[in-house]
Amino acid sequence: MLTDNFGRKFYYLRLSITDVCNFSCNYCLPDGYQCDQPRDFLSLPEIKRIAKGFAQLGTEKIRVTGGEPSLRKDLPDIISACKETKGIKQVAITTNGYKLPEHLPSWLDAGIDAINISIDSLDPRQFHSITGHDKLPHILKGIDMALASGQPTVKVNTVLMREYNGYDIQTFLDWLKDTPITLRFIELMQTGDNKTFFDAQHVQGSRIRQNLILDGWLPAIRDRSSGPAQEFYHPDYAGRIGLIMPYSKDFCSTCNRLRVSSHGKLHLCLFTEEGLSLKDHIQHDDIEPLKQHIIEMMGDKKATHFLHEKLTGATTNLAMLGG
Ligand code: 5AD
Ligand code: SF4
Repeated sequence: MLTDNFGRKFYYLRLSITDVCNFSCNYCLPDGYQCDQPRDFLSLPEIKRIAKGFAQLGTEKIRVTGGEPSLRKDLPDIISACKETKGIKQVAITTNGYKLPEHLPSWLDAGIDAINISIDSLDPRQFHSITGHDKLPHILKGIDMALASGQPTVKVNTVLMREYNGYDIQTFLDWLKDTPITLRFIELMQTGDNKTFFDAQHVQGSRIRQNLILDGWLPAIRDRSSGPAQEFYHPDYAGRIGLIMPYSKDFCSTCNRLRVSSHGKLHLCLFTEEGLSLKDHIQHDDIEPLKQHIIEMMGDKKATHFLHEKLTGATTNLAMLGG
């Protein structure tokens, strides 16, 4: 089992398969994706070796992320490959859902266990102003289809922003009354590129936490797969609420995840200065050197990020690493 110097265990790998995204979310890629790097993203054989290597080191869950992972045509093959890896119990995806109704059948066939979809507003006009796209009704249709299929767990990610949703989460709560999903409010994080936006829009999740508790929401029991999210449930609601507060005390103490970028670099934290390349070790089927290399690098994982000191590392935006 992969363990760091602070006793944290890493059951969970977030695997980015592309940097490219077709949305231009105001906090992430306000000017859209810039093609200023070569697109030498991990190949399917490389992905299989990474999955196998991590699984043999105790990883049980792989989340496929991007950029927007569904921009890769071989995404269903990637899901199947992760799913077929011995030791991997759960395969999840994080997507903007722009073609969810069209893509869903092939993901279900490939065995997807969980789908996280980003929706920062339930108002179509505001959704457009955040993402640059008019896709909200289409995405909601995809969510209904996913729920009707009865197969994957469905979660929605909502980034809290002062002017958009920071003070009014009522429409989200109304939606959760009858919709059996988990909606996770994520506190906006500062990255290298969004400083001005961050200063104007950051609101603390703790305000929402207080209001939820006053309204009768109850903290759910955490298990080892919950990671840094705090979850709440309410007897009158079909849905749940999660809070992800990266600036809160002790956030990093429950860290259970490692990240591999679409260029094949291991990132010990979302906000490290640099990724550690695995490329040399994923060119051949003997994965023992890869495993050894990963184990050696674990010693460098730090206790926490340095976001409080406004140090964002080399992370200019989260499309680089998929959140
Ligand atoms: N702060 C918080 N969340 C972010 N995401 C992307 N950029 C940021 C940021 N700066 C979210 C996306 C997606 C998830 C993977 O990360 O909205 O839901
Ligand atoms: Fe873990 Fe880094 Fe995230 Fe903290 S910021 S929870 S250490 S990945």
